[in-house]
This record gives sequence, C-alpha cells and structure tokens, in this order.
Amino acid sequence: MDDRSFVTAQDFILDVKRFWTTEIYPTLKADFENRAASLENTPNTTEEIELLIGGTTLHRFYAWLERHLQRLKYSGRYGLYPYHDGRRGEFMTSVDGIKNNADRLALDPNLTLPDYYRKVDIHQHPGGVWSDEIAGFVYERGARSTTPLMGKAHKDLHQRFTDFIASKGTTPSHILDMGCGFGKSTRPFFETFKDAHVEAIDLSAPCLTVGAHEVGSRAENSLRYRQMDALKTDYGDSTFDLVTSTMLVHELPPAEIDQLFGETVRIIAPGGIMAHLDFHHLPNAFARFIHDGHARRNNEPFMSSWADIDPIALMTEKGLINLQIIPFQEAEGVDPENNPYWRFPWTIVYGEKPSAQP
Ligand SMILES: C[S@@+](CC[C@H](N)C(=O)[O-])C[C@H]1O[C@@H](n2cnc3c(N)ncnc32)[C@H](O)[C@@H]1O
Repeated sequence: MDDRSFVTAQDFILDVKRFWTTEIYPTLKADFENRAASLENTPNTTEEIELLIGGTTLHRFYAWLERHLQRLKYSGRYGLYPYHDGRRGEFMTSVDGIKNNADRLALDPNLTLPDYYRKVDIHQHPGGVWSDEIAGFVYERGARSTTPLMGKAHKDLHQRFTDFIASKGTTPSHILDMGCGFGKSTRPFFETFKDAHVEAIDLSAPCLTVGAHEVGSRAENSLRYRQMDALKTDYGDSTFDLVTSTMLVHELPPAEIDQLFGETVRIIAPGGIMAHLDFHHLPNAFARFIHDGHARRNNEPFMSSWADIDPIALMTEKGLINLQIIPFQEAEGVDPENNPYWRFPWTIVYGEKPSAQP
C-alpha cells in the first residue's frame, strides 16, 4: 500500500468519526430526550434506555459506525495494521539501537502476561498491543486519532493531567508511570519535573521499545522504560513520591484493580501521591448507556465493571487520604457534565498516603 492511499483513507475514516461525534451522537441524544419526554417516567437505567432507543435505526447506525470505523482504522484495506505490516523491516530497523541501551530500556522476556490481557484484542487492535513486534508503532499511530475532536491538541490532555499534579505544589523526585504504553503519558511528567527520576512500566515490549526509542537522548532526566506487571512490581516499599497511570485502570478486571491500588499504596512513600487518569464520571443514565455500548463495541471488557466501582471506598480501604474524584476537562471548553459531543468520561482519581507518624 502506498503512503498516499494510506494517509487519505485514514483521514477519511477520521472525518467520518468526527461526523459521528459531532452530528450523529447529538442527534441520537436529542432523539432519546424527545422520546423520554413523552413518557410518564423518565428512563433512568441503561436497560430502560435500551428498550426505548436500542432498536431504532438511528441507534443501530450510531453503534454500527462506532464498531466498524474502528475496525476499518485498524484492519481494513488501508488499516494501520496492514500498513505497518508491509513496512515491518523498516520500522523494526529503526529501533535496533535502543534495544542495546540498558539504561533506557529493560525488557523481560520471561514475564508472564495475565489472561485478561492476552485474551482480548483490546480496542480492536489485532493481536492486542503486545503480541506482534510492530504493535508499538501501530498503537502510536492509532492513538493520534483516538479522541477525534482533539486533533493536534491531543497531547494537551496528558500535559493537563501533569499540570494538575504540579498545581498541588509538589515536586516529586521519584515518579512511576504505570501502563505507560509507548510513553505518551510519561513525557509530560519527565518534561515538567526535570530533576525527577522517572520509571515507566508496561507489559508490552513493543510499546516500551517505541517509547524508549522516541525519547532517545532528549530527556534530561534519568528515565527508564521497564517491562513489568503493575500489579506486582519489583520496587521496594515507599520507593516513589508520585505513582500515576493514564488509561490503565479501565483495562483491568475488578480483582486486579484492587491489587493495583494495593500495590500502588505499598510503593508510595508516606506523604506521596497516587493519581490515575481514567474514564469514570458518568453524570446520568444516558451517559452510562453510551459508555457501556462503547465498551462492548470497542473490545473493552472491563470498562463497565470499573465504572461500577466506588474509587473513594477503594482508596479509603487502602488507607489513602485527601481523596478526590475530579471530572477532568481534557480540553478547553469541554463540559464533563453535559458535553454536546461524544467524549470519553475522563476522571482523575486522586489520593495521598498519610505522612509517617513522628
Ligand atoms: C490504553 S493504554 C495507555 C497507555 C498510556 N498510559 C497512554 O496514556 O498513552 C493502557 C496500557 O496499559 C498496559 N497494561 C495493561 N495491563 C497492565 C499491567 N498489569 N501492568 C502494566 N501495564 C499494563 C497496556 O499494555 C497498555 O500499554
């Protein structure tokens, strides 16, 4: 496939996704509200909403586009996967150098990958983000258009999250980014806290390789990408003063979320911070209906069970304090309570480990 055809087709898919986001979603929402207004009791469960609009042509069209635009983006004739597959040699040669840089990249070929991770092609990525050596490149390219309205501003989302941490007046010296992927969430942390030692961990060797390669020698920090399970790290107790993740929690089953929070608290030093940016705040039943449908259609098997969990109760049980659940404005002008267009329900889950008793 030639570059021009690939870029044109991907641009087309993204434009249709924008249309879906800004035209079809608001039309579906208005249709739901009109139908609900004519009922005696407003539907306030996802089951009731399913009964009301689930079978309409509009909803089916909306759902079909959500599923199949993502499929076309990854696996279609001009999909990300066939494009990168056809250039496999070229892409893999480009990361040869980083594989020998043990200060920057530490892979663990003996790491056992959990079942929840291996058994699903997460967000319709063929083979998941881990099973093929080119997966990091495919994911990096795909992530450029995950939130269709943000375009070039997409990077801002990660920076805005880091800015939130910085606004706490803290200057962490040891930072861990869990589930760092190809490092998009790690970058604003090491660029903002230049004196900090930063560790970025993930299960996916192909993603870590791309992350470490992209940083090259540009980072001023001491910075390592390590292949490790965030649920059972090899860090000692109280190693970090900031442990963070972005879009990791919703990928985990409930028992693993419990484990993740427990592990996080163990490796945070007294007085340190835990902050996860993920999808959680769903202000009404319609938002929940849309979110559960997205989870099913986009191969996100644990997104809905995470939405059922009360993070305040979980963090309280783990002994954290100063807890905050903050609906997150991923871009200027977005309204997390009632946005006119489709968006992910971005939410910061924040807690602090109590300082050691004198
Ligand atoms: C949606 S991606 C987010 C990547 C990155 N944080 C970002 O914001 O671009 C979720 C990442 O979590 C990783 N992951 C899933 N389970 C994990 C676990 N138990 N330990 C470490 N990483 C995990 C996946 O490999 C994937 O790279």
